[in-house]
Amino acid sequence: MRVVRAEQFGKPDVLVVEHAPDPEAGPGEVVVGVRVVPLLFLDTQLRRGWGDAWFTLELPYIPGSGVAGVVVSVGKGVDPAWVGRRVVTDTGAQGAYLQKAAVPVENLIPVPEGLGLQEAAALMYDGRSAMRLAELFPVRPDEWVLVLAAAGGLGSLLVQLAHAAGGRVIGAAGGKRKIDLVRELGADAVVDYTEPGWSGQVRSLTGGRGPELVFDGAGGRIGRAAFDMIMEGGMFSAHGAPGDRFAPIEPQEARSKGVMLSGVDEVTLSGAEARRLTAEALSEAVAGRIRPVIGHAFPLERAVDAHAELEAREILGRAVLLV
Ligand SMILES: NC(=O)c1ccc[n+]([C@@H]2O[C@H](COP(=O)([O-])OP(=O)(O)OC[C@H]3O[C@@H](n4cnc5c(N)ncnc54)[C@H](OP(=O)(O)O)[C@@H]3O)[C@@H](O)[C@H]2O)c1
Repeated sequence: MRVVRAEQFGKPDVLVVEHAPDPEAGPGEVVVGVRVVPLLFLDTQLRRGWGDAWFTLELPYIPGSGVAGVVVSVGKGVDPAWVGRRVVTDTGAQGAYLQKAAVPVENLIPVPEGLGLQEAAALMYDGRSAMRLAELFPVRPDEWVLVLAAAGGLGSLLVQLAHAAGGRVIGAAGGKRKIDLVRELGADAVVDYTEPGWSGQVRSLTGGRGPELVFDGAGGRIGRAAFDMIMEGGMFSAHGAPGDRFAPIEPQEARSKGVMLSGVDEVTLSGAEARRLTAEALSEAVAGRIRPVIGHAFPLERAVDAHAELEAREILGRAVLLV
């Protein structure tokens, strides 16, 4: 089978297409024929060598950690009725930019009728994280919710969920294409944080009081500016660090403003809880309550271009690889 490997840490062109032996399903496992791989912004950061405080990667490695596809074979002890079923699944340490993955059967999340594999792949991580954040920070009608990196994979779902819950949503993103998308997704107001004065706009939209709830997918200085304007007693999810730095906020500062602060650990999910939340996101999409935005689908062989576009912040919503 073909795989994409990072031979070293560095620019997108460290990714090379190679051949590897097809995996076999061991006892309790299935082999998934991969059709779609969700590309996370995080994949580009790990490829550059960032994130060793949280992730252990040994070179060479296959990037990614989840796929959507069809079960092609089962190992000993696994119900053969799985063969032919459409699933999404975590692939663990073997990576995900590959044509076939052997995974434990308990990792499989069936893709419901009526949902395409591209959509399911796009929702695999963003959907579970968005569902988790919606549980942690239930949006109350009419409260002001600021979503940063609102045109991204996760942000675009948070805009939709907060809007559906009756919140007054301010979507913040970089550039016209992105803020146009955020408006289409249901934001009541949009701001472009690549323009000066964006935080003043948020303050005036909220009548000077600041947002009650901030979903910070941007981190760094943008996240910090949002914390500085959040309403006393508000809630702040500091889960984003696409510029390599989470919003610099001391827990003590949050306590003194009465702000409930949570970090990326709250959306770092695994096991049964992660599968429950992904399955919920897939059902929400079938019911039409959330819509993943697939900004670009690249063939597996063009992983280098995909990473370059992601890093250049050119992608709307989620990008995927087609295998
Ligand atoms: N997806 C998940 O399930 C999940 C789970 C836990 C944590 N997170 C974290 O949450 C953040 C957003 O997640 P995502 O996966 O949905 O990514 P994404 O929003 O699809 O992509 C990242 C976006 O961040 C924005 N951004 C802001 N400041 C940036 C900077 N300094 N450098 C580069 N981009 C910057 C860019 O959008 P603009 O051009 O509009 O600024 C960029 O497109 C990431 O840090 C991610 O690791 C995501």
